[in-house]
Amino acid sequence: MAEAIIAGLLRRKLVGPEQVAGSHPRQARREEMHVKYGIEMFESNREAVTETYPEVTADSSMIVLAVKPQRLHGVLEELKGALVKEQLVVSIVAGAKIETIAEQLLHASVVRAMPNTPAQIGEGVTAWTASSEVTEKQESQVCAMLEALGKTVRVENQRQIDMATALSATGPTYIFLVMEALIDAGVHMGFSRHVAQDLVHQMMLGAVLFARESHKHPAELRNMVTSPGGTSAEAIYQMEKGGLRTVLSKAVWAAYQRAESLGKI
Ligand SMILES: NC(=O)c1ccc[n+]([C@@H]2O[C@H](COP(=O)([O-])OP(=O)(O)OC[C@H]3O[C@@H](n4cnc5c(N)ncnc54)[C@H](OP(=O)(O)O)[C@@H]3O)[C@@H](O)[C@H]2O)c1
Repeated sequence: MAEAIIAGLLRRKLVGPEQVAGSHPRQARREEMHVKYGIEMFESNREAVTETYPEVTADSSMIVLAVKPQRLHGVLEELKGALVKEQLVVSIVAGAKIETIAEQLLHASVVRAMPNTPAQIGEGVTAWTASSEVTEKQESQVCAMLEALGKTVRVENQRQIDMATALSATGPTYIFLVMEALIDAGVHMGFSRHVAQDLVHQMMLGAVLFARESHKHPAELRNMVTSPGGTSAEAIYQMEKGGLRTVLSKAVWAAYQRAESLGKI
């Protein structure tokens, strides 16, 4: 995710490589990132945030926390007391609350954001919210940074970040599972795997673009292709009988509860 953010920022020329620094515990990864993006890489997180960069003033400096939730505590300990008041902390760590980060860092300006994996090709969607200490200028800078990953949605509170974690951040997993099942169904009927894959990929892409551009409710779009006694009616009957709608709803609810419980650990 951190690499997707760095790649997006540089691709859109929002900043130059000399204005970006990364940190990583493994030397091989540090070298890889340096060669690929021309950015400075540090072993120490603390050094990365206290270093100065050309044309980056304290009030335009952003620190992005992008480690796995179980590593966050150690990183916050390392950064404790190292930040100046004007710097902004942006966390994409699932479950981690703004208050927890602020308390552990002794730092008030914190943004919590929840991107998803299509961010890697600039087609992601990121929900975000900010603590009351974040200034308007910082908010627009965060928005510009997150737009390098795709669309952004400002949400009202952290409960909605957990909701977005379950819906849009975990969402690609649901779609990939459905995609895989449809490709397998194509193979089951006798298509070669690559033909089934081409048909399913383009069908899914087209269906999403059509839904978005037509501005019609999904049920209306579905009714348009469901002729009496036809193939869609038969397939929909089987999906409803198998509880697809309920399974999806339960999956999203379970992911939401998991996101909430991660925040309590
Ligand atoms: N992937 C998603 O779709 C997604 C979506 C929204 C939010 N998030 C959140 O984004 C965060 C990162 O997820 P990810 O998928 O990008 O994970 P990831 O690929 O594991 O990236 C985390 C990176 O941090 C490195 N790291 C470990 N300890 C570190 C330390 N002390 N200091 C600096 N770097 C350290 C890891 O190195 P090693 O590999 O050597 O351990 C790894 O390269 C998570 O908190 C996740 O909840 C992810």
